[in-house]
Amino acid sequence: MRVLKDLFENNKKWAESVKDSKPDFFQNLSKQQNPVYLWIGCSDSRVPANEIVGMLPGDVFVHRNIANLVIHTDLNSLSVIQYAVEVLKVKHIIVCGHYDCGGIQAAMDNKEHGLIDNWLRHIKDLYRHHRVKIDALHNASEKINLLCELNVVEQVANICHTTIVQSAWKSGQELTVHGWMYRIEDGILKDLDICVENINDISQIHRIS
Ligand code: CO
Repeated sequence: MRVLKDLFENNKKWAESVKDSKPDFFQNLSKQQNPVYLWIGCSDSRVPANEIVGMLPGDVFVHRNIANLVIHTDLNSLSVIQYAVEVLKVKHIIVCGHYDCGGIQAAMDNKEHGLIDNWLRHIKDLYRHHRVKIDALHNASEKINLLCELNVVEQVANICHTTIVQSAWKSGQELTVHGWMYRIEDGILKDLDICVENINDISQIHRIS
């Protein structure tokens, strides 16, 4: 099928319904974007950023990839973070992982998955760092979910270690990095209570003076 008709029909209805409730919505949005939040989440189709937090276009700047990783050599996520922090001046960066993440599950098995194994290796490294704690759990799903949480903690740290975030803090810019988890089963968010808002909250070795 060359044209995905349903999607165009849905789009028309959606645009009309938004316009019905807010006649100037698209006109105003076309002039600028001014989001307060940068969302870094998993590509999983069941974890859509805007919908989960009930936000409209223009409210959240979004980057999603498999297992919500922020790798310090990945120009894609770094470019998103740079633009969000330096140009849009977002006040919050949210790393939102989710339980039962397929990326984390795939990283925990010993099968070959092709190209993606190069991406998943970052998660395998993380498992290696936390192996004792994770292996102390007996249930496979508990193990995966603990690694899902530890992965969010790690990505929050990776974001804070960037020169982008540290430069923002140095210049007095208000910027907080959060770690959240989402449960697909009931649609509820959980705050992991990681709230990094200045250089004193990160490990000494990563601080750039
Ligand atoms: Co996932």
